[in-house]
Amino acid sequence: MDLKIKPKLIIHGGSGNSLKSKGGATVVRRSLYPVVEEVYSLLLSGVSAALAVVRGCQMLEDDPRFNAGTGSVLQSDGQIRMSASLMDGTSQSFSGVINVSRVKNPIDLVNFLQTSPDRVLSDFGAAELARELQTPTYNGLTDLRLQEWIQERQDNFKRVMANVVAEQEMLETNNARRGTIGVVALDTNGKLAVGTSTGGKGFERIGRVSDSAMPAGNYATPHAAVSCTGIGEDIIDECFAARVVVRVTDGMSLLEAMQRSFAEADEHKRDFGAIALDATGAISWGKTCEILLAAYHDGEKIGDTLEIPVGTEVGSISTQD
Ligand code: GLY
Repeated sequence: MDLKIKPKLIIHGGSGNSLKSKGGATVVRRSLYPVVEEVYSLLLSGVSAALAVVRGCQMLEDDPRFNAGTGSVLQSDGQIRMSASLMDGTSQSFSGVINVSRVKNPIDLVNFLQTSPDRVLSDFGAAELARELQTPTYNGLTDLRLQEWIQERQDNFKRVMANVVAEQEMLETNNARRGTIGVVALDTNGKLAVGTSTGGKGFERIGRVSDSAMPAGNYATPHAAVSCTGIGEDIIDECFAARVVVRVTDGMSLLEAMQRSFAEADEHKRDFGAIALDATGAISWGKTCEILLAAYHDGEKIGDTLEIPVGTEVGSISTQD
């Protein structure tokens, strides 16, 4: 195939403050790399960035290790409520669902809403849409997430968030971590798209709205696309994804936009991570937290951010060749 543009891809499975479970980085790589491989093959075959992003989000939502779809954390009342959004950079169309329950893949509802006159639906509206589309009822509860909730209930909900990765050892070490999944893609036509999906923070009040279904956590233009993961309130306060994307759209390089925006986030003591692509093919990631579970394909090989140094860090690779 005569490729006009070499596709690029970066995905994440959350961020947090340590990765100490048995297997650690190896186990997480085992989840992330097959997604990178499948979605990158789709991009090479000419699939659009938006469709590739939807497929990547489906795969990550289906992995019980991550806090989205199957394996979502439970809210304070013991229920799963999920939020997701998709933004096509070319059409600059944002769609989302907020606090939807009993569906396998929230990203599918969001994909349908891309061409709807009403593009962001909350709980009742999202449930009604799922019913109209005859989406099968699905319970994404896993034993580990239930145990995590019961343990936290016994401790009277002392922790502010659930674990980013669902692992027995995570449950035992009781470290607070943050979970969300995200996919950012640049297709062979040079088009960008981004999708983000989450079960929320875990143990939150009913009705709390996640950044993952807002432009603060998921945003794209024809110039750049960003997906965030971490404490939603911090991401919203920085309006982080939109902040980086607007800076690149106004002429800043992606690396500079990420460095400046993360320096501001660090100054404000925020706690989150983000992944990004621009239309030139530059890939970037950053974090103010200790770990960012991200993996990418730079056109030549797969890499990841699982073992980059602890603390505030912004990384970048490659431009289009
Ligand atoms: N970033 C996911 C959440 O806070 O809901």
